[in-house]
Amino acid sequence: MDIQPKSVHGIWSSRWTFILAATGSAVGLGNLWKFPYVAGTFGGGAFVLIYLVCILLIGVPVMMAEVLLGRAARKSPINAMHHAVVASESRSAWRYIGWVGISSALLILSFYAVIAGWAMDYFTLTARGALSEVSGDDAVLLFSNLVSNPLRLVLWQSTFLVLCFLVVAAGVQRGLGRVITVLMPMLFLLLIVMMLLAVMKGDFYSAWTFLFAFNVDSITWRAVLEAMGLAFFTLSIGMGAIMAYGAYMPAEASIGRTVLTVAILDSVVAVVAGLMIFSIVFATPGISPSEGPGLMFISLPVAFGNMTGGYILGVLFFFLVVIAAWSSAISLLEPAVAWLIEEKRISRPRASIFLSFLVWILGIGTVLSFNLAKDIKVAGFTFFDALDFLTANIMLPLSGFAIAIFVGFIMGHDLVRAQMVDLSSKYLERWLWLLRYLAPIAVLMIFSMGIYDKFSSV
Ligand code: PHE
Repeated sequence: MDIQPKSVHGIWSSRWTFILAATGSAVGLGNLWKFPYVAGTFGGGAFVLIYLVCILLIGVPVMMAEVLLGRAARKSPINAMHHAVVASESRSAWRYIGWVGISSALLILSFYAVIAGWAMDYFTLTARGALSEVSGDDAVLLFSNLVSNPLRLVLWQSTFLVLCFLVVAAGVQRGLGRVITVLMPMLFLLLIVMMLLAVMKGDFYSAWTFLFAFNVDSITWRAVLEAMGLAFFTLSIGMGAIMAYGAYMPAEASIGRTVLTVAILDSVVAVVAGLMIFSIVFATPGISPSEGPGLMFISLPVAFGNMTGGYILGVLFFFLVVIAAWSSAISLLEPAVAWLIEEKRISRPRASIFLSFLVWILGIGTVLSFNLAKDIKVAGFTFFDALDFLTANIMLPLSGFAIAIFVGFIMGHDLVRAQMVDLSSKYLERWLWLLRYLAPIAVLMIFSMGIYDKFSSV
């Protein structure tokens, strides 16, 4: 078996393009929308710490394994797993890791595009000055006007998916690589500017205390499961996205160092976004950090609408969210596109349009779950809640678990070592220990306790 096959899709032009692309995939709505509101709902402090520990001890080792699987085969996740199964002469059932990854990526993209659409809508609202001096009630109304209007939602969802399609259809180097190298520096710059503005105008001290005060009482198994699910979601692991990107990683780049850089950048962005958002929230009377999903679309607009300099802060903020969502969404589409190209030998633009269309149709379910179908619930879940819970809290941890076991025990030392040449034996042993024991045991334990907690309280 060829140890280092060639990719039919191309290779990132350098290690840094991979870092930017993987960071682009990692930094998204998970950091800017989900992390702050989930941290807010679970009381800040202790949740943040657990989240960071999950990233470091479970997320990073599993992410390294996922990149390794991709690079070893230089193929889409389904074929990468097939390659690994054949090379290590193991049971073919392991191939399902690729299938689960690609399906979760498409499921996630279907609702991700809808939420990204909200951010696009809010960008135009903010730019038009519609948020100026809004009261809390007005903000609630603005938001419900948006989500109760299926046509408006579909319009934005479709625009967003067209943006994703255009990038993915243009290919790894000319599309993804090129767009990422423009978007990511822009994203970091925007974040720094916004952070400075928030420190100057907001209540930074309260935000800091809220995010870092260790409050043990707020910790339940449900909170730990959320923290772990979010850690997987934010690092984009368990969905094939990182495996697909790993397939285009230059052979000489160090997987360990690269993944650690991506995880650090991703956590810094989440924490900085949290500090920025809560500085603004705490400086505005009458809005609370535990707002839930509306934090970004209800609380923040009130804050932006009523502070000096809020106009520019608001416009920059929603622009930032759209860029972050865009650079993540393309990594959700790429794995399935790569697979279709390999399998059916169709052209990249065709594969991209077909899959974008499929995702678009699925996304209609999410669109309707906020309006016409909002009362249709199963076990307390709307269609959107169910997709979100199923992907982030079930599919991702389970596929992370399977990846850890496969690379840790099944794949065979030589195949693993071949991708990890730069790692000293000491670090290799430590990584393997985390991957073989800590990650799977923690995932299983948190997973079962969290699910039990969730359903015993419904
Ligand atoms: N990591 C992205 C975020 O935090 C979401 C995502 C998940 C992107 C999986 C790609 C793959 O928003």
